[in-house]
Amino acid sequence: MPGPFGIAVIGCGNISKQYLKNMTQFPDVTVLFCADLDLERAEKQAAAYGVPESGSVRQALEHPGVDLVVNLTIPAAHAEVGVAAIAAGKHVWNEKPLTLNVAAGQALLDQARANGVRVGCAPDTVLGAGIQSARRLIDEGAIGAPLSALTLLQGPGPQTWHPDPEFLFAVGAGPLFDLGPYYLSTLGTLFGPVSRVAAVGRRASDTRTIGSGPRAGTEFGVDVPTYVAALAEYEAGQAAQLLFSWDSPLSRDGFVEITGTEATLAVPDPNGFDGDLKIRRAGDDDWTVIPATGVAAGRGSGVVDMVRAIRNGEPHRASGEMALHVLEVMSAIERSAAASGFEPVASTFGTPAPLDEQWNPYVAAN
Ligand SMILES: NC(=O)c1ccc[n+]([C@@H]2O[C@H](COP(=O)([O-])OP(=O)(O)OC[C@H]3O[C@@H](n4cnc5c(N)ncnc54)[C@H](O)[C@@H]3O)[C@@H](O)[C@H]2O)c1
Repeated sequence: MPGPFGIAVIGCGNISKQYLKNMTQFPDVTVLFCADLDLERAEKQAAAYGVPESGSVRQALEHPGVDLVVNLTIPAAHAEVGVAAIAAGKHVWNEKPLTLNVAAGQALLDQARANGVRVGCAPDTVLGAGIQSARRLIDEGAIGAPLSALTLLQGPGPQTWHPDPEFLFAVGAGPLFDLGPYYLSTLGTLFGPVSRVAAVGRRASDTRTIGSGPRAGTEFGVDVPTYVAALAEYEAGQAAQLLFSWDSPLSRDGFVEITGTEATLAVPDPNGFDGDLKIRRAGDDDWTVIPATGVAAGRGSGVVDMVRAIRNGEPHRASGEMALHVLEVMSAIERSAAASGFEPVASTFGTPAPLDEQWNPYVAAN
């Protein structure tokens, strides 16, 4: 019986708290090292979560006990850190988006294949109770044949609350690249790969003003569309309408509805791990609530699924291939919004098997 997989967390910023809190409670993994460019930050996180060692990225990659690197750096560093980890013979879990562009993502996956290691990628919200319950209901035929999806994400934008929001309005971000992975990975889990997309993009203003924190009142430039309305066709025949907007005084997000021949299913927020579902069958006057079943363990669940899959020689669910496909879909949406007309999507991925209702990262697998 092998011991737990050794993990190094690289990137000890905002989101590392959620990962460290969860992964230090999952018995199939053991966090051995925290690394960051900012060594003090790495040391602080290691101390806060009882991780035995901290230090530089190089030290993390030289650690003989580390089998898998959890890369929680900023998107601009995802490829560089991932490539270095693979070169050191480690499996890699990346935060989203996989990389800044498709070529870098493809190179990362090619390098992993050549070195015999795996790449997994956020969001692992698709493994949460909410979306997995949706997947099981659809597979059981609860809505008949799935036909279409409608997703809505709209609001005034993160400059209202984020103290340093400039990067969220720079190339590689905007509502499409920052939040698109949640919606597109959810539809990927339910429908499989996309075959083509079309989109329009708008920008309500070329500048925004920081709304909170010490720099409140500072104006900055907007480099990306802040309203993106997209159409997607799926290889299996379904169609989807997706809205990603930070040009809306009205806030409404986490809206995902899947319509089939017999019913419409309202899926919980794809940026969460839990939440009730609702179904409305042909002839119903109102929705029927269906509580989600299964564990909602939070960020790091995908790392546990990956570790178990490596040990069992099976595919892991939140795969690098799905993340690369989602990145290609977002890039194609961006191109279509700039040029008009449909854009093909060439990459594909094996649709992951649903998780068993009993799946539980808090209990050791064997
Ligand atoms: N903050 C959130 O709520 C949130 C939610 C979901 C996903 N994410 C994703 O998580 C990732 C990190 O986001 P965050 O909010 O934690 O960012 P952050 O800026 O708070 O933290 C990033 C950390 O990475 C370190 N870093 C940057 N480049 C590095 C490098 N080359 N080597 C080592 N360390 C490096 C930085 O010093 C910093 O400590 C992003 O991909 C983001 O999309 C964030």
